Amino acid sequence: DLGQERQSITRHAELAEGIVEMTVRAPVVAQAAKAGQFVRVLASQDGELIPLTLADWDVEAGTIDLVIQGMGTSTRLMNRMAVGDAFAGIAGPLGRPSAVHGYGPDQTVVFTAGGVGLPAIYPIAKAHLLAGNHVTMIVGFRSAGHLFWTGDDERMGQLKARFGDQLKVIYTSNDGTFGIKGFVTTPLEEMLKAGASSNGRKIAEVISVGPPMMMRAVSDLTQPYGVPTVVSLNSIMVDATGMCGACMVPVVEDGKQIRRHACIDGPEFDAHTVEWDKFLPRFGQFKAQEVRSLEAHGL
Ligand code: FES
Repeated sequence: DLGQERQSITRHAELAEGIVEMTVRAPVVAQAAKAGQFVRVLASQDGELIPLTLADWDVEAGTIDLVIQGMGTSTRLMNRMAVGDAFAGIAGPLGRPSAVHGYGPDQTVVFTAGGVGLPAIYPIAKAHLLAGNHVTMIVGFRSAGHLFWTGDDERMGQLKARFGDQLKVIYTSNDGTFGIKGFVTTPLEEMLKAGASSNGRKIAEVISVGPPMMMRAVSDLTQPYGVPTVVSLNSIMVDATGMCGACMVPVVEDGKQIRRHACIDGPEFDAHTVEWDKFLPRFGQFKAQEVRSLEAHGL
């Protein structure tokens, strides 16, 4: 137990409509955190546990950064909390850290992120850059009105300034109001067809985080090209201990159907092993309860 006073919110900023970034005191989590891991947050004693990927952390300050999209009751209530408020509990870091392989200068690791997938891939991309890999980030937003972290003095700008030519960033928006018109798959498909990224490097692997449909589209796209692809499935979680089964991910490994758990086996999976037709419907399974809960809380 980290103690209530240590989990207080020290920074709170609205990044875009319904999306809040906050810094929270959590020294034990910050100390142990590795790229790709998540925490389980209990906003209030009577609330539900919400899994959130670590967007960043600061060991010296003893803080972690979380980006929260207000979707259901808990996340909307969390986003209404303010500096000085404290969470009832934060457990973590949880999940297996990202595997960061070293690649040569003629290869690049391609990341695709949609919306709040950006804070989830940010620490993983940074880990690859620190390991000396070339990185291409394809970041998709709905429109220019939904942007965050893209300014020169914001995280993506700072990353670009720090790593220079080692990092290439491509933006897309569904309506063409920012970057390339289309989806993250638009530039990715061009790269796969060309057999190289836009800066001429061979694609070593693709790492994708975003809405489930986007991750599936990326997986379907890379499979025929045989490009190793990783997805981070921060799916519905209840206990995050591998016991409840809520986060079940059906996969096929060595020709065998296996049920994996995102909370302990993941959150990262080999995208080409995931049985997407079975997995995707799981995201809608609590819709009816969620709507009733939102109404009950007047949200
Ligand atoms: Fe319960 Fe993973 S959240 S088994």
